[in-house]
Amino acid sequence: MAESMIAGLLRQKMVMPEQIAASHPRANRRAELNEKYKIRVFEDNAEAVGSGRENEHSIVALCVKPQRLDGVLHELKDVVSLNQIVLSIIAGAKIETLAEELNNQKIVRAMPNTPSQIGAGITAWTCTDAVDENERAQIKALLTALGKELYVETENMIDMATSLSATGPTYIFMVMEALTDAGVHLGFSRETAKELVQETMLGSVLFAMELRKHPAELRNMVTSPGGTSADAIYQMEKGGLRTVLSKAVYAAYQRAVALGEKK
Ligand SMILES: NC(=O)c1ccc[n+]([C@@H]2O[C@H](COP(=O)([O-])OP(=O)(O)OC[C@H]3O[C@@H](n4cnc5c(N)ncnc54)[C@H](OP(=O)(O)O)[C@@H]3O)[C@@H](O)[C@H]2O)c1
Repeated sequence: MAESMIAGLLRQKMVMPEQIAASHPRANRRAELNEKYKIRVFEDNAEAVGSGRENEHSIVALCVKPQRLDGVLHELKDVVSLNQIVLSIIAGAKIETLAEELNNQKIVRAMPNTPSQIGAGITAWTCTDAVDENERAQIKALLTALGKELYVETENMIDMATSLSATGPTYIFMVMEALTDAGVHLGFSRETAKELVQETMLGSVLFAMELRKHPAELRNMVTSPGGTSADAIYQMEKGGLRTVLSKAVYAAYQRAVALGEKK
């Protein structure tokens, strides 16, 4: 995710390579990032953050796995300066915890998703009142390096977005896989079934976005009386597809909330 952010920022020419400082514990990864993007690299997280302390518009992005967070917060405790904005994309990391541990009130919590890796993600984000209008505009710009961004009013909405859009690719990939398998079951080669399914999914999304109609209306448009769609819909309803998806999203939401609860 951090690399996607770096790549997007440079691709869109939002910053110069020397304005980015990245830290990584592994030397080969540091060398790779330095070679590929010409950015400054550090072994020590505190040193990377410290290198931006004097810059008024410096953003400290926390992009480690949740289980590494405690250690990183400990390393950064007295390092983040008051003019730096802390942006965390870490699932379950609460604004209150970040503010307390880093002794900084300018906290942004964001939740991207996997398509961010190709600049086609959607990131829900929110922030504390201490982040002013200019800084919010700066965060918006930074998050467009990952694709689209959407400001949400409350931190609970980040947990909601975690279950809907951040976990979202999982639902889509499973549907994609199931449809491809169904095509193979019918007798198509896997390659042909995959192409038919992927293009159908992509085209349907673009079509829905273009027409801006309710999905039920779009579905009705292709459901002729006694036709193939009507039979398919009957089976999907009988199998509880909507309920299963709704339960899956709710289970992911409950998990996101539980992850964020203080131990
Ligand atoms: N991927 C997603 O779709 C997605 C979506 C929303 C939110 N997120 C959140 O984004 C965060 C990062 O996810 P990711 O998928 O980018 O994980 P990732 O690919 O594992 O990236 C984390 C990187 O941090 C490095 N690292 C390990 N310990 C470190 C330390 N002490 N200091 C600095 N760097 C350290 C890891 O190195 P090693 O490889 O050597 O361990 C790895 O390169 C997670 O908290 C996740 O909840 C991810």
